[in-house]
Amino acid sequence: MNAPRLDRSPVTTSPTWAEVSLDALRQNFRAVRKHVGEGVNICAVVKADAYGHGAAVCARALETEGAPWFGVTGTEEALALRRARIKARLLLMTGIWKGEEDEAVANNLTPTVWERWHVERLEEAASKKQTVFPIHLKIDTGMTRLGASIDALPPICKAVASSSHLKLEGVSTHFASVRDPEKTLRQATLFEEALGILSAHRLAPALVHMANSAAILSRSETWKTMVRPGIALYGYSRTRAAGAAQPGDAGTLLHPVLSWKTRVIALKEVAAGNAVGYGGTFVTQAPTLVAVLPVGYADGFHRLLSNRGRVIVRGSYAPVAGRVSMDLTTVDVTGIAGVEVGDEVILLGQSNGKNIDAGEHARICETIPYEILCSISKRVPRVYLGGG
Ligand SMILES: Cc1ncc(COP(=O)(O)O)c(C=O)c1O
Repeated sequence: MNAPRLDRSPVTTSPTWAEVSLDALRQNFRAVRKHVGEGVNICAVVKADAYGHGAAVCARALETEGAPWFGVTGTEEALALRRARIKARLLLMTGIWKGEEDEAVANNLTPTVWERWHVERLEEAASKKQTVFPIHLKIDTGMTRLGASIDALPPICKAVASSSHLKLEGVSTHFASVRDPEKTLRQATLFEEALGILSAHRLAPALVHMANSAAILSRSETWKTMVRPGIALYGYSRTRAAGAAQPGDAGTLLHPVLSWKTRVIALKEVAAGNAVGYGGTFVTQAPTLVAVLPVGYADGFHRLLSNRGRVIVRGSYAPVAGRVSMDLTTVDVTGIAGVEVGDEVILLGQSNGKNIDAGEHARICETIPYEILCSISKRVPRVYLGGG
């Protein structure tokens, strides 16, 4: 066997890393912008560390591209973006918690509100600063999660309308199941009813928003004056995942932003009849070449990929052989010519016409690409390609 190759990825010494293509991110943003048109605002959702891609770097790239708004979960995520000198508007999609209102006002964060106490506390914080502070009201139209129900709306509208330091800049709702046209129509109809109640209280927010990626790609009637794409920016859509995208479908213009790579750190020639890994769940049927990869479930390479997932080595698929353990995974590279220690291995990404994406992992792990991407742990260094 040849001497191990010691070459490494360009900006990390780690043998496992994730490459984030800022070019692909910007391209996906442009595709969304072109699809919805210049007249519709875009709130780029970068919560959960930009679905595992790195919120600060992604937000910086998107801000340079002209993104006016970012959607984050709460104050902590927003303040991290402010510390990273992100100047764009930041929508706190899960609102504020008690005690966070002064920070929200001081840092120009934009809370989603749906309860009286949100309004009262923010009014007090804004009045201390002698400012008029913008807020967005969330309506629960059928998700049964966050938001004021239609019945609860009048008293909240009254509180907002009578507060002299708050301005209702936006109103939103969130779809539970864009695939289901009836449910989605029901939610959209309730939302219109809510807008009517707002209007009766002389509230006319400029930013009306409900569409996530799926609605952006498939239901233009939901775009209103702002949309909130998340997963589409990272290159995934339902039609793309199902392999059902049609030419001209906006989903075909999206490209996965993240590739996940590792290297072969050991090779083992194993005779027939040997068990590989914890529990001996893979037993070699013939002489087998096993490659050991320094990635495991602690990195986010899910244990359900044991004996079911695959990777790409030297342009060929190699199946996971045995259990994925915390830090290591074994793959069967028998028959792949010339495999050496140091070879790059693709966990997510493409090479030589072969492709593994987060949708494939999601199907095997009975989850969604969102969770696969968010689960790639902090231990995996992110390497940014395409400038920041
Ligand atoms: C309120 C809200 N808006 C928008 C999004 C973005 O959704 P998607 O990633 O499906 O585009 C999310 C994500 O879960 C969300 O919670």
